Amino acid sequence: MNKKLWAGRFQKQVHPMVERYTASIDFDYTLIYEDILGSLVHVNMLEKCSLIDKEESNQLQLGLKKIVQEYDQGKIEFHLADEDIHTNIERYLKKYVCDLADKLHTARSRNDQVALDTHLYLRKQIIFIVHLLIELQNALLDLATKHQNIVFPAYTHLQRAQPIYLAQHWLAYVAMLHRDVERLQSCWIRVNQSPSGACAVAGSTLATDQYYVAAELGLEGVYLNTLDAVSDRDFIVEFLAAASLIMMHISRLSEELIIWSSQEFNFISFDDAYCTGSSMMPQKKNPDVAELSRGKTGRVYGALVTILTLLKGLPLAYNKDLQEDKEPLFDVVKTLTHTVSIYIPLLATLKVNSDVIHHSLQSGYLNATALAEYLVTKGISFREAHSITGKMVAYCLQNNSRLQDLTLADMQGFSMFIGDDVYSALAIEKIASITQSKLLTLSAYENQISISKAWLAEKLCMLQNIYLKFDVPLK
Ligand code: ARG
Repeated sequence: MNKKLWAGRFQKQVHPMVERYTASIDFDYTLIYEDILGSLVHVNMLEKCSLIDKEESNQLQLGLKKIVQEYDQGKIEFHLADEDIHTNIERYLKKYVCDLADKLHTARSRNDQVALDTHLYLRKQIIFIVHLLIELQNALLDLATKHQNIVFPAYTHLQRAQPIYLAQHWLAYVAMLHRDVERLQSCWIRVNQSPSGACAVAGSTLATDQYYVAAELGLEGVYLNTLDAVSDRDFIVEFLAAASLIMMHISRLSEELIIWSSQEFNFISFDDAYCTGSSMMPQKKNPDVAELSRGKTGRVYGALVTILTLLKGLPLAYNKDLQEDKEPLFDVVKTLTHTVSIYIPLLATLKVNSDVIHHSLQSGYLNATALAEYLVTKGISFREAHSITGKMVAYCLQNNSRLQDLTLADMQGFSMFIGDDVYSALAIEKIASITQSKLLTLSAYENQISISKAWLAEKLCMLQNIYLKFDVPLK
């Protein structure tokens, strides 16, 4: 018979349906490495504070490390009756160190334990995700470098607007991803805090040292308030909000790539390896990866709303409701990681159909704004210049011609201020190069990325040292 940790005050076994309903081991086993890391440091702290002796500390640490090894060898079996990862580990520890395992839970509750685990887990995942985002930025930067000289129609309202270089379009996404990295860096500050020592809600009467725990784990601070420490999930909400924005950015890119790969646009082609076919229509090549990443954005937003809703009515401090934070969080980490990982090679293998793009510049009056601005240089107010140019566009539409096809005499019929220097002002390539010259160059984006990389290297090194010190794999 499985005796519950809390069996003392109960006179009946828990109903099997309740056991099933309340257990979280099916998903919170994900926290195993961080749970053990936290326990190893906790044991050190108990020893330092003379709550256990050196021999006991060594035995407990050996036992905990053995669980990690056995888990990595696929030898650990979790039991539903043990409810969650914390209890499952404690039960295993008991197998290795007998009753000594019962001392592990001194000055600790699963409430601060699970909060600590989640902080440590998310801190690690943020590092992995920032790494992937930088790779994605690099993939976009490579496209921008390749397409520095491809003049491209910029759109507003999905109507051709002004000529740009295709590089600028990719760089817009590099800029969005930079903000995404910044948001994760900011979120990291709140994630990298220690709730340890809050125990169930009000700490412990034992002489413990929560600052030692925080310092050993590389956590930058300790929660000021124990009630807050065990019930705060703001850091998860912040992460999910940042994740939602990342997915939204990728979804916008996906939408564009899907449109551009349609036969109607035909600006780009996906590599066959990143598309799938139709079971019925033999000719089909579907942009499934781009479509799915757009679709998966919905479930990430869903997770954000799930956690916000979970929290809104909770009285202080810990409530079992909080167990519901994990599945959405884990799902978002997986969805985001998979999406960004697949997007990197998808972009690297993208083919741009430059002839089609070049041809597209001929229609849509991409030089109309430049013509109005040419008139401004002749002393005409912009509103008047806009109106003159609008009439010229209407005339061209009737005659199925481009602005640069009009004769000087035709043009002067609209404004006597137009001279023959107008033709060079109408040259699409020239317009793109003038507007481009006012924008930041590739190296500005490269600088931003190298700053992110330095941040990442520092944090990763810190994590590697800690995980190495305690023999816990960083993965
Ligand atoms: N599995 C629980 C969770 O995820 C751990 C904390 C349980 N605490 C308790 N008082 N029942 O929230």
